[in-house]
Amino acid sequence: MNAPAKTEDFVETAPAGVFVETVTEVAHYTDRLFRFRMTRPAGFRFRSGEFAMIGLMVEGKPIYRAYSIASPAWDEELEFFSIKVPDGPLTSHLQLIKPGDKVLMRKKPTGTLVLDALTPGKRLYMFSTGTGIAPFASLIRDPETYEKFEEVVLAHTCREVAELKYGFDLVDEIKNHEFLAEIVGDKLKHYATVTREPFAFQGRVTDLMRSGKFFTDLGVPPLDPLIDRGMICGSTEMLKDTKAILEEAGLTEGANNKPAEFVIERAFVG
Ligand code: A2P
Repeated sequence: MNAPAKTEDFVETAPAGVFVETVTEVAHYTDRLFRFRMTRPAGFRFRSGEFAMIGLMVEGKPIYRAYSIASPAWDEELEFFSIKVPDGPLTSHLQLIKPGDKVLMRKKPTGTLVLDALTPGKRLYMFSTGTGIAPFASLIRDPETYEKFEEVVLAHTCREVAELKYGFDLVDEIKNHEFLAEIVGDKLKHYATVTREPFAFQGRVTDLMRSGKFFTDLGVPPLDPLIDRGMICGSTEMLKDTKAILEEAGLTEGANNKPAEFVIERAFVG
């Protein structure tokens, strides 16, 4: 395994037309998950919930993968929440980064998990598994989310309790934030479950929705296409199963050019 490029000639070897940014902070949660922050290029604009192509020079070649930007659009830095895949072409290297290292970012962000892709509603559900929480980490820190919705439910399912920590830290950060705390108030509900060890809330969110426990625990009525909106980010199977539940409840899938009641995006791995 090669460490990411750290030499001073990195900028000269980096491909043209991409941003070369500096890592400012790295936090490891488990042997599978870590978070990092890096400088934000001047003039780089994105909508909360979008993803960008993040990369490293590996053996002289750039390797990229899609990463949801986990920081909100107003943040002066960029944050990402990543899986560590032992043999992953990018993450096997990216997991070794340290503050001061250089990371590549392609110039154009994109994505469907944006507020513009949803029709107006009252309650916004964000369904995530694993690193699929990342785009929602951006959206729950964006005041616009609370201007558009009266209630926001962040649902996060992981295998183990330790994998939920990023989400719990986020919600704590919001509650203690100098201006977000007041904007968010009690509008944000965090529903965190695990599937492979004991915890207060257990099971896949899909099973908990089907049994009705999810709604009872939250004290909300079942899904209603007139009121409820959804965003889904997780594995391919999780997207499929969650989408089926929303569609059975009468919600339809939207896109940037055709807003509707819910939108989906794959949580990228590799
Ligand atoms: P499970 O432990 O029952 O597989 P992963 O780390 O593999 O990406 O999984 C993250 C979480 O997503 C796990 O808790 C896993 O549950 C859950 N999960 C996997 N597949 C689905 C699915 N089809 N619908 C809902 N949750 C899922």
